[in-house]
Amino acid sequence: MPFEPFGDLNNTPEEAIGYSEFYESTLKFHFSCHPGVEQFFTNARKVCDLACGRGASAIFIAKFCPQARIVTVDRVATPFPEIIQQLQGRHIRHERTSVSRFLKDTGDTFDIAFLVRAPNVIYPEDCVNLAKHIKGAGYVLELNDDE
Ligand SMILES: C[S@@+](CC[C@H](N)C(=O)[O-])C[C@H]1O[C@@H](n2cnc3c(N)ncnc32)[C@H](O)[C@@H]1O
Repeated sequence: MPFEPFGDLNNTPEEAIGYSEFYESTLKFHFSCHPGVEQFFTNARKVCDLACGRGASAIFIAKFCPQARIVTVDRVATPFPEIIQQLQGRHIRHERTSVSRFLKDTGDTFDIAFLVRAPNVIYPEDCVNLAKHIKGAGYVLELNDDE
């Protein structure tokens, strides 16, 4: 599926859920290549989903990071209400802002920052800010369609 940097291919909640299932298998492959990483996800307390779109990535993040508070960030999109409802009981906060602005302004520190189907949203000047908001032993995970 082609990457669309400024749009979101998930036009319906069903498409978003289908996408989440696809990424689940990608993440399982990632875990099989990096022993110990799955446990890190399981224990994560706070994660962010940068360029979250309509919530496809939030679904699998919630599944693999069962204890984590999740901050979703997107400059345009908000997660589908159906997806938020599916994740009820989980602590999810959405910020409608650019990734650059979020990384400048947030006071949060994360165990994991997810960049899912969003390879062009981190600009060189954002890298230092991103690093500031990842905990010492933290993790930035980028997942794209071609993995
Ligand atoms: C292809 S979608 C990916 C959505 C989601 N991560 C997923 O996998 O379903 C890319 C998203 O990036 C958002 N986006 C693009 N540039 C951005 C930026 N600079 N800051 C925040 N969001 C951005 C778009 O609004 C869009 O929702």
